[in-house]
Amino acid sequence: MTVADRAPHSPSPPAASRQRCAACGHELAETDPRQRCPKCTGLLEIRHPPPAATGMALRALLDARCGTRAGPFYSGVWRFRELVLPSAGDDVLSYPEGNTPLLARPSVAQWAGAATLLLKHEGHNPTGSFKDRGMTVGVTHARRVRATAVACASTGNTGASLAAYAALAGLPALVLVPKGRVALGKLTQLLAYGARTLVVPGDFDTCLDLALKASEQLGVYLLNSINPYRVEGQKTIVLELLQQLGWEPPDWILVPAGNLGNTAAFGKALREAREWGLIRRVPRLAAVQAEGAAPFALSFAEGFARRHRVEAHTVATAISIGNPASYDRAVTAIRETDGVVTAVSDAEILEAKAVVDASGVGCEPASAASVAGARQLINKGVIRRGDRLVAVLTGHILKDPDAITRYHAGTTPPPPPPHANPPIEIAAQVAEIARVLSARG
Ligand code: F0G
Repeated sequence: MTVADRAPHSPSPPAASRQRCAACGHELAETDPRQRCPKCTGLLEIRHPPPAATGMALRALLDARCGTRAGPFYSGVWRFRELVLPSAGDDVLSYPEGNTPLLARPSVAQWAGAATLLLKHEGHNPTGSFKDRGMTVGVTHARRVRATAVACASTGNTGASLAAYAALAGLPALVLVPKGRVALGKLTQLLAYGARTLVVPGDFDTCLDLALKASEQLGVYLLNSINPYRVEGQKTIVLELLQQLGWEPPDWILVPAGNLGNTAAFGKALREAREWGLIRRVPRLAAVQAEGAAPFALSFAEGFARRHRVEAHTVATAISIGNPASYDRAVTAIRETDGVVTAVSDAEILEAKAVVDASGVGCEPASAASVAGARQLINKGVIRRGDRLVAVLTGHILKDPDAITRYHAGTTPPPPPPHANPPIEIAAQVAEIARVLSARG
């Protein structure tokens, strides 16, 4: 669905944005399709013209769009068009996406030890993860640069999102995934949405290297999160949660961290929200990695003195990444927000997930890292119990059904885990049901 922009507030076409190298400052035009700085290979960042309205007027403009039922402003990404891609106009390609709920679940807050813990559930996006927010902007832009095919490396969610949006755009999609390390729900989405799915021996980092080379040598348009347009879309997770809180920021935002696209996007969103007067105070970011894939946490512990690369192994396959591509941008985000980076064990992730699942909300394993991180940082005294927290849940519960059955059948970890709820086989008799009811009593 291509939707025409019916905004009453845009009498003349807005000025184009620029792409700027975060390392050397070299600038490229908005529609230059190169993925990295041609001078120093640094990552590119989008700079928008300042919005016509700022402060209370900008808030009012964005809030007035909330009830919209058609057109781009129906999307929880394009509602923030001035901060995402002001010049997109009629090119917008949207499901729509975003408009995800901010949920209060006392059992989860209690487990984490927090007085106020809200869950921003990005699994409610069209393909079941936050990736759709970046992909609507990435694929919109791919069409503007006249890409003939789009590609990405993925632990599954980016690929699922790319495949769905490419189908919407009528573009061929190529997805490179690490063999044996993609959760079932995601793999089935890739096949079903019609992406060419290339299974590569090795890990995510191998796939990303290969995808980068293929995009340079074969001319396919790469839509991993090093693509700066993806970052612009992912900023709206933060913009939307701030809006849902009436522009009264929480004390902390916790986010699962793998390739660090989100961490980088959150930092940029907060910087701009403050610069343009949407908020007066910047919340602190907490990026949470899995212990077996924690190069960013290692660097943070050393004051970011050096960049680490590790061989990643974690039950949270989505964040099983050893050499995060958006490292530099994410360092800026953590520094600018007085943020922290931490790592949680697979057992902590699975326990947090079981608690989120049992609250009726549910999420995939990587998502639960944010909730596990909240509990750990509260226990360590980094976060105060009375602080207001928002933990981002990045993906839907059905993305990784195997992880759920393994946990509840008691096979991971080997002793029955604390919240295991195994299926019970019974004979087809009411007496058997009564026996189970009384045992649970
Ligand atoms: N949570 C989920 C569910 C993810 O799928 C990802 C990344 C992350 C967290 C980490 O986000 O990379 O921005 O730090 N998934 C990518 C993919 C790598 O290919 O789907 P990040």
